[in-house]
Amino acid sequence: MPESEDPMADPIFNTPSFEAYDLLMNRRSVKTRDMCEPGPDRETLEKILAAGMRVPDHGKLAPWRFIVLTGDARARLGKVITDGLIAEWETSQKTAEKMSGYATQSPALIIAVYSPNDSRPIPEWEQQLSTGAACQNMLVAATALGYAAQWLTGWASYSKYVAKALKMTKQEKIAGFMFFGSHSRQPTERPRPDPADHVTWGWPADAVE
Ligand SMILES: Cc1cc2nc3c(=O)[nH]c(=O)nc-3n(C[C@H](O)[C@H](O)[C@H](O)COP(=O)(O)O)c2cc1C
Repeated sequence: MPESEDPMADPIFNTPSFEAYDLLMNRRSVKTRDMCEPGPDRETLEKILAAGMRVPDHGKLAPWRFIVLTGDARARLGKVITDGLIAEWETSQKTAEKMSGYATQSPALIIAVYSPNDSRPIPEWEQQLSTGAACQNMLVAATALGYAAQWLTGWASYSKYVAKALKMTKQEKIAGFMFFGSHSRQPTERPRPDPADHVTWGWPADAVE
């Protein structure tokens, strides 16, 4: 049999990786306030982004784009958020300034932007799911590479002011502010759903009207 036809040639398939499964079962977010230096360097961020883009994507639309902020660029986002709070909510300068540190909470920030693509008739819902998968893959990849990560949204992700400053189109939405760094203390575990409460084995009983 030629090597290319050998079903065992690609070690990803048919070979269990208990390490990968353990990572999935133990991964958890680290709160941004518990993040510290060092953050992932450029090469590591590229790896995280590459994993983010390697997700199921109906129609191969790649309905996302990513804005990477490190160093001083993060403070610029903090200023935009502060100004946006004042402009959109008439928040007082003093209160708004409390948000100026939002983007500098971690050494690196990736803004995951949902960017729908209408070149093929794929429902937007599916494109959104693919974008969510990209965000999750980045969390998993960062953890695998030894970094802390957290996915946040909040007011700024829905702000027209912030969207305009980031040069987003009207169709685009912020799927998440993805924070990356090291962790300064052990993250606490949170209660996890009991699979029994969310799984039906076999045919579902009467549908709820
Ligand atoms: C789309 C999305 C937005 C979220 N936004 C926030 C947020 O703004 N603030 C927050 O405390 N948690 C937010 N979370 C929850 C955290 O990312 C995360 O689920 C939680 O901190 C712990 O989950 P984990 O340990 O499984 O990562 C968000 C989650 C998702 C999926």
